[in-house]
Amino acid sequence: MKFSTRLLIASSAFAAAFSLTHCKSGGGDTIKIGEFASLTGKEATFGTSSHEGTLLAIEELNAAGGVLGKKLELLTEDDQTKAGEPANAVNKLISKDGVVAILGEVASSRSLEAAPICQQNKIPMISPASTNPSVTKVGDHIFRVCFTDTFQGAALANFASGTLKAKKVAILTDVKSDYSKGLAKNFKEKFTAGGGQIGSELDFNGGDKDFKGQLTSIKDNAPDAIFLPGYYNDVALICIQAKQLGITAPIFGGDGWESESLLTIGKDAMNGNYFSTHCAVDQGTPEMAKFVEAYKKRFNGKTPDAMAVLGYDSALVLADAMKRSGTTESAALRKAVAETKDFAGASGKITLNEDRDALKALVFIKIENGAFKYTATVNP
Ligand code: PHE
Repeated sequence: MKFSTRLLIASSAFAAAFSLTHCKSGGGDTIKIGEFASLTGKEATFGTSSHEGTLLAIEELNAAGGVLGKKLELLTEDDQTKAGEPANAVNKLISKDGVVAILGEVASSRSLEAAPICQQNKIPMISPASTNPSVTKVGDHIFRVCFTDTFQGAALANFASGTLKAKKVAILTDVKSDYSKGLAKNFKEKFTAGGGQIGSELDFNGGDKDFKGQLTSIKDNAPDAIFLPGYYNDVALICIQAKQLGITAPIFGGDGWESESLLTIGKDAMNGNYFSTHCAVDQGTPEMAKFVEAYKKRFNGKTPDAMAVLGYDSALVLADAMKRSGTTESAALRKAVAETKDFAGASGKITLNEDRDALKALVFIKIENGAFKYTATVNP
């Protein structure tokens, strides 16, 4: 992990140095695309996955001859899962490296930090997987190739009342995460509007290790189910401690649960719980099947997760817009991205609406016998 990260940083530093000298000699025979991702730190699997998907797309595009007669050059910055770093990363990519567009981030809080800088510089930014509604509201240069939490929150509310038959739900929110706060709010609005009751609402800070206080209070309130809109590492610890306290109500959450690490950390404490996410690798479309095969071949047999699929699609949508506009000039490129319609991505058909969000289906996964099992699809 450390080794490959160092390699990556070294190669992007080399690419930056190379392109700088190259510019001086009047070059510019590559199209520079920036990417920022959490390659290290607390949410390293998010950034690693989205980066691998993005890289695969760029390599495939280059192997097919590039775009507009030029090869694509991906410049990747590791934001280390740290607040403050996304701003540094995109400032560098824009001002120093001269990228024409930016891909990233997975986590909403980090996309929200970088988006105003991209907007101000009129550099199109495409987030693969940030679902918080505010992200694309930053401005007309900010896009996403995934659904928003307005949709995901509503789907989870229907799931709680319809599938889990829950009348009373407890909510446990990560107050350090814009994603968690937003999804909790969207869920609560829909669930209560449908007659559901919120038994208790508790908070934690992402990265905490002891959740027994909150879980004891939830247990005393005896909810039918527990809604946990968090990220995989915190979710796994919370599910372990819930099991230790004898909580048997199902725990469910959103796309932030998706990581193989959820299972390796949470083990059998994860069984019987559910989450919604963007796609399933076995969803049976030719685009997904082709992607999964190429990804496995490129990354030593590893099975891709949703972030990898969406990272791949974010790069393809950008390249498609470049081809349609015939230029990488900012205004034309921005317009072409905005006009993305029925693009056949690996995750599904991508059409961007007037809010620059993708309207896409969502899938529900149940955790059973230590594995993710696809259970249902919800269409927009
Ligand atoms: N949707 C999450 C966010 O906005 C990020 C995420 C996407 C996490 C996909 C896992 C899978 O922060």
